[in-house]
Amino acid sequence: MDKLIINGGLPLKGEIRISGAKNAALPVLVASLLTSEPLRISNVPHLQDITTTMELLGRMGVRLVVDERMTVEADASGVHMLRAPYDLVRTMRASILVLGPLLARFGEAEVSMPGGCAIGSRPVNLHIKGLQAMGAEISIEEGYIKARAARLKGARIFMDMVSVTGTENLMMAASLADGVTIIENAAREPEVMDLANCLIAMGARIQGAGSAEITIEGVERLHGACHEVIPDRIETGTYLVAAAMTGGEVKLRCVRPGLLEAVLDKLRDAGARLETGDDWIRLSMEGRRPSAVSIKTAPYPAFPTDMQAQFVVLNCVARGTGTVVETVFENRFMHVHELQRMGADITMEGNMAVVRGVEGLHGAPVMATDLRASASLVLAGLVAHSETIIDRIYHIDRGYECIEEKLSQLGARIRRIPGSQLGDWTKRQTA
Ligand code: UD1
Repeated sequence: MDKLIINGGLPLKGEIRISGAKNAALPVLVASLLTSEPLRISNVPHLQDITTTMELLGRMGVRLVVDERMTVEADASGVHMLRAPYDLVRTMRASILVLGPLLARFGEAEVSMPGGCAIGSRPVNLHIKGLQAMGAEISIEEGYIKARAARLKGARIFMDMVSVTGTENLMMAASLADGVTIIENAAREPEVMDLANCLIAMGARIQGAGSAEITIEGVERLHGACHEVIPDRIETGTYLVAAAMTGGEVKLRCVRPGLLEAVLDKLRDAGARLETGDDWIRLSMEGRRPSAVSIKTAPYPAFPTDMQAQFVVLNCVARGTGTVVETVFENRFMHVHELQRMGADITMEGNMAVVRGVEGLHGAPVMATDLRASASLVLAGLVAHSETIIDRIYHIDRGYECIEEKLSQLGARIRRIPGSQLGDWTKRQTA
């Protein structure tokens, strides 16, 4: 397994390009299952979760052609397998997204139950309940969700909790259903809106995406289209926090500042000077140490849970004390123990972390546990005084394209030691 080695202490300076959004590209790729005509998707990030999705679609019979700029053409005219197997679903829970499209187009689907993960139990009951409301017969057999329906019927669906992939799954299914579906208490995340725009380009009739009530008038068939994935707001926020923590100055290109207002507000509160254009953001700390900020995660447009771990680290080295409350996931503070090993002063009170800023962190060997927790360890490594070694970085590769290259471009001392060379590297360290 690869490791990342970081020698921190330098302010990040320079300019980088932000990639397409992982959480938008995943459902858009899956949307290709809804039509027998090719879907052309550009600005797809080069990430492990995308590779897993392409493997899943490929096994089902979707023909995929990827060019050197990561434009993907997905042709689902020859789908022959309507099953998402356990070995893929367990590495990527978003595989559940194939359930709605397969059921809507082919009348049946089998998807392995995702099970728990590092950030909590993460059930899929809302996906199942919504499809049942549209007339699907669903049973759980041998760890698989087995679904059947002659043709799905439009329905009024109230989501008990705001669920991003739940809303996406039902919106895709409803696009081919007979009649009108109304999803109430829908997720308003920009990635839901991006998927809706792609579906509309494919001929779907969708209104209200981006609001809490989405209306979908089902059509008989969808057709091919071209779609460009929106920029990754979480990758954007992560590099901004990295710059703020290190007292740096960075310009991020190919971004949409409007998608991360809640995060930008907190960065301003932390003392960052921000300038924005249509597709760029510049952050400067003018050499200042950040001030602690208090945050509470909640569905969009509130502060995103996917930026929680990064702000915990910001507070670790900030002036003052900040509280971080997690309301979306039940167990999303795995990074706290690792950060404490690097000298952070954090106490947990239920779902709230109380973070007292310290003058500096020190490097340590640490372990990545999930995607955003791993990002926070990289950020901690960037400000730590000595060497930080991060193990299990496959979590980072699931969601951050070329992280060590982008950080190096901003002046960080970071390198990847491939698993195959670890033996030699360890010998050199102990010599
Ligand atoms: C998506 C994002 C993930 C982000 C999360 C919250 C993708 C691929 N992933 O995950 O990065 O952290 O949104 O913004 O887009 N819930 C239920 N029953 C369900 C579904 C969800 O109880 O059937 C609960 C979950 O346990 C959680 C909350 O609802 O507490 C929100 O989860 P959800 O929005 O569904 O997360 P994902 O779509 O899996």
